[in-house]
Amino acid sequence: MNKDIGIYIHIPFCASKCFYCDFTSYCNMDDKIEKYIDSVCTEILQNIEILSQYNITTVYFGGGTPSYINSKYIVKIMQVLKLLKKDESEFKEVTIELNPNSIQKEKITDYINSGINRFSIGLQSTHDQILKSIGRKHTYNDFKNGLEILSECGAKNISLDIIYPLPNLTLEQFNDTLDKVISLKENYNIKHISIYNLEIHPNTKLDFLLKNEFLTLPDEDEEYKMKNLLIKKLEEANFIQYEISNFSLDGYSSKHNLNYWNQGQYLGFGVSASSFFAGSRYTNTNSITDYIKNINNGISTIAEKEDLDKLDMMKEYIILKLRLKDGINTDEFMSKFGNNIFNIFKTELDYLISNNLIIHNNKNLYLSSRGKEIANFVWEKFI
Ligand SMILES: C[S@@+](CC[C@H](N)C(=O)[O-])C[C@H]1O[C@@H](n2cnc3c(N)ncnc32)[C@H](O)[C@@H]1O
Ligand code: SF4
Repeated sequence: MNKDIGIYIHIPFCASKCFYCDFTSYCNMDDKIEKYIDSVCTEILQNIEILSQYNITTVYFGGGTPSYINSKYIVKIMQVLKLLKKDESEFKEVTIELNPNSIQKEKITDYINSGINRFSIGLQSTHDQILKSIGRKHTYNDFKNGLEILSECGAKNISLDIIYPLPNLTLEQFNDTLDKVISLKENYNIKHISIYNLEIHPNTKLDFLLKNEFLTLPDEDEEYKMKNLLIKKLEEANFIQYEISNFSLDGYSSKHNLNYWNQGQYLGFGVSASSFFAGSRYTNTNSITDYIKNINNGISTIAEKEDLDKLDMMKEYIILKLRLKDGINTDEFMSKFGNNIFNIFKTELDYLISNNLIIHNNKNLYLSSRGKEIANFVWEKFI
């Protein structure tokens, strides 16, 4: 049995709320930061018995904005996690999400000294007008200054997040964003780029602004051109599309996220954090007040638990694996589940292969270009 496990830590504090964002994040609760971090440390220690049986391979500080809070809190969590290591070796990968205008030399130095070795910056766009229209408080210049600081501090593995399409974003502007980030890659150790398709969540400010026509999005045709452009440009710059939304230079795919897509086990700590462990998925409460109260009273803070049976596990495995460039290895499926994938999902696979949405190449099944374009339609066959 695989004894590797990933750890996710949710830091739910932000300087302000971006118009599109649906993550659990608060911009008026700084007075709770100290208590929250202590609770996260307590929650980790409450799981010491489970964790002592596993090798923690990757850690991911996500948010919210982990770089918004004082770095001493991140260092404290890292100290607790190190207590759980069986030996002196480093974790394979420790990532922290950064907002461009909270990148400071002292913080980055603390992160690196505590063992953090991967930095994921939420850039979203290189155009200040566009950034403003989605409620981002930083400019492109702030991002460049942040990169300079990371470089001075010796950061070797940097990832960027970009979103498309965005309100009023033109194909020319998107092209320019891609050119800019690609041109920065050599000087600043940019090894990984995540390009997310904009999700419009109900009840967000963006949802309101779009519905009431204060903002407009590029049409489908423009969006399609953007998608083709980003794949072409990033591939030309040696970024491999190893997952639908993720591109990396050779050897720099995200180990932590690969564990998710390989249906590996992980424990998430903090408000609204999810875990996948022993065939069940757990999600913590999304109320920070309840979270702190429960943890400190020794009460479970899990709001939802879903037990996956074998068929659920197989379906989820297929959907997760098809997100990856290499797709599903049919022998691996057989050794994991003891069943031939073609026996269990004959109708679905026959349909998807004959319609050229999935390619069957020797032992592998993976999405075709058309399959990637309508990936949601493919997933529906397995839900
Ligand atoms: C937790 S945030 C990253 C760190 C930091 N909070 C920031 O925004 O700079 C994770 C990433 O998810 C992406 N994201 C958030 N909301 C999204 C949405 N509605 N649609 C698409 N991508 C989204 C953004 O690219 C964002 O950088
Ligand atoms: S900074 Fe990041 S987590 Fe915070 S509101 Fe914006 S997108 Fe969401």
